[in-house]
Amino acid sequence: MSTRKLLVDVHTHVYLPRYASFLRARAVAPKIFSRPVPGEPGAREDRLVILDNEPSGGRPIGPQYWDRPEKLAFMDKHGIDVSVVSSANPWLDFLSAPEANTLAKELNDDLEGFCSSSPELDSAPSGSGPSIKRLYGLGLLPLVPEASPSDVLKTITQISSLPHLKGVIMGTQGLGRGLDDEELEPVWGEIERNGLVVFLHPHYGVPSSMWGERDNGHVLPLALGFPFETTIAITRMILAGVLDKFPSLKIMLAHSGGALPALSSRLASCIDHDPVVASRLKHNARYYLGQLYFDAVAYGSEELGFGKLRALGSSRMLFGTDHPFFPPLKGTDKWRSVTENLAAINGVAGWGDKEREAVCGGNALRIFNLA
Ligand code: URA
Ligand code: ZN
Repeated sequence: MSTRKLLVDVHTHVYLPRYASFLRARAVAPKIFSRPVPGEPGAREDRLVILDNEPSGGRPIGPQYWDRPEKLAFMDKHGIDVSVVSSANPWLDFLSAPEANTLAKELNDDLEGFCSSSPELDSAPSGSGPSIKRLYGLGLLPLVPEASPSDVLKTITQISSLPHLKGVIMGTQGLGRGLDDEELEPVWGEIERNGLVVFLHPHYGVPSSMWGERDNGHVLPLALGFPFETTIAITRMILAGVLDKFPSLKIMLAHSGGALPALSSRLASCIDHDPVVASRLKHNARYYLGQLYFDAVAYGSEELGFGKLRALGSSRMLFGTDHPFFPPLKGTDKWRSVTENLAAINGVAGWGDKEREAVCGGNALRIFNLA
């Protein structure tokens, strides 16, 4: 058996064909629409509009967002052995509760098919069984305002019964009141009990009034708004005692946890000075970072090896790409989201082969129960 170490991508998205058709049928955002290509008579292109106040031209979108052969070709091109694929934002957030409930179940079945019929790895890593697939998935829950918590629980049961789905991806709205809502406690309990991973991912950013009047394209919402949203959502969960009540709940934060690793000591200090909040928590705020997992989608070694992330070491960090977002501007190049994130992992001061291999794949095999 091969002793090859695997490269596993835990932050990689798809708009499943059913979801892409759904977006195409919509006249308002989120939507996919087709328009003539400026300056190329007769040519048309598809565009995606999903963000609040997004310039109406949105972003280009193509088959790499929904085609499985494109996902596998991207993986082959970059030496990625296994991908843990999740639906991309805004998931089901904008739907009514009945629509979200139906579509969640259909998309979870679709994703199971997308993964279960993917090829097997040619060579399994040492010590594992022979049958690792190239694709695994994270399902969707009908987390929208007015959703019935029992429908959410039933969807967790569905996901747990689908062998290639290893967790859920979720945004920050919950049932409309955020993720510190007491009504979500049975949901956390059921996810924990089933050993599923929660991939917490942003969509809304922070209010666009923060960005001023200058046209900075998508830079501020994506570079800053996204990670700040994640930071606020997980901090609210910590302050609500979710991590105390569900200590085995596996939560993986997008974009290396946003600003939380840099702010955890400030958070701890603010809690210490607020006895009402402090009395609700079992631990110092810094402690909870050690209960979380972080993707390594930070694009720089310094950021991965900085502050609290450095102290946590490599065992809670997992390689990711955010594919198919951020494509190369010239079609044939390797994607910088892969090369920069791999270079970042390889360049963290103090990490040797063991740590790098863990972040590149070993941690994912363990945390997502892939091998
Ligand atoms: N990455 C995502 O996952 N979603 C976006 O909208 C942009 C980047
Ligand atoms: Zn993403």
